[in-house]
Amino acid sequence: MTTSKHILRIDNKHKIIFDDFRNVKLDDEADLIFADPPFGIGFKGNLQTYNRTPDSLSYVDVPKEKYSEFIRDLAEWSYSNLKNSGSMWLLSGWNNLRLVLDAVEDVGFKQINHCIWKYQFGVFTRRRFTTSHYHLLLLVKDERNYVFNKPEHYSEDVWYIKRPYHHGEKTAGNELPEELIERCIRTSSNEGDLVVDPCLGSGTTMKVSMQTGRRCIGIEINTALEERIKTKLGPLSCQGYRVVS
Ligand SMILES: C[S@@+](CC[C@H](N)C(=O)[O-])C[C@H]1O[C@@H](n2cnc3c(N)ncnc32)[C@H](O)[C@@H]1O
Repeated sequence: MTTSKHILRIDNKHKIIFDDFRNVKLDDEADLIFADPPFGIGFKGNLQTYNRTPDSLSYVDVPKEKYSEFIRDLAEWSYSNLKNSGSMWLLSGWNNLRLVLDAVEDVGFKQINHCIWKYQFGVFTRRRFTTSHYHLLLLVKDERNYVFNKPEHYSEDVWYIKRPYHHGEKTAGNELPEELIERCIRTSSNEGDLVVDPCLGSGTTMKVSMQTGRRCIGIEINTALEERIKTKLGPLSCQGYRVVS
């Protein structure tokens, strides 16, 4: 991984900041923060997925002993960069969920929902059940003032969404399905709103924001993902990219 910090401007509504989110202070507060942080479980890219081919790009996890501090930093950063009427979707695995729940409550977030994403199958295990779900926390600052565009008449908190596979492509590891992010973005923001992803990864949040008419700022520490992001955005970034600093 290289560590050169720079900003990639796609157009005046969309940019990617390659840096640690903790170094970034946003000019405008976000309407929605979507964060899919590393889970602090020693994840090594997609070497642990079912086909086990070494085609993943480098992956930046957080050491287990530093996870509590990391997730507190993320919760605090998100709270202070979010509008009072804003919302946050925060993803977590089950291993460190306790730390995540404590951190978000301590900084002042109110939990509106604790959704479960059930994906088709996880990594095969012999002496325990196979994990095939993630936790998605819907958090707000003000329970009386937040956007909630209910997706269906009867919207339940368990979502069955398939994980995408990108055979033969060099992926970032743990790339989320666009369908999952789109559900979060459409539910918790309106067209023209500012969506911020402080752990952007392969750029899925940026892609969905562009497709749904939201402004977006993505922050990613791993500059090795730049090419993957550009591939994922493809023709959406038809104006090209401008390196700002
Ligand atoms: C689970 S992945 C996100 C995957 C993303 N949702 C996608 O669909 O591609 C977490 C990302 O957080 C990034 N990351 C880890 N620590 C970070 C930090 N301090 N600041 C910004 N990004 C960080 C990792 O490099 C990784 O790309």
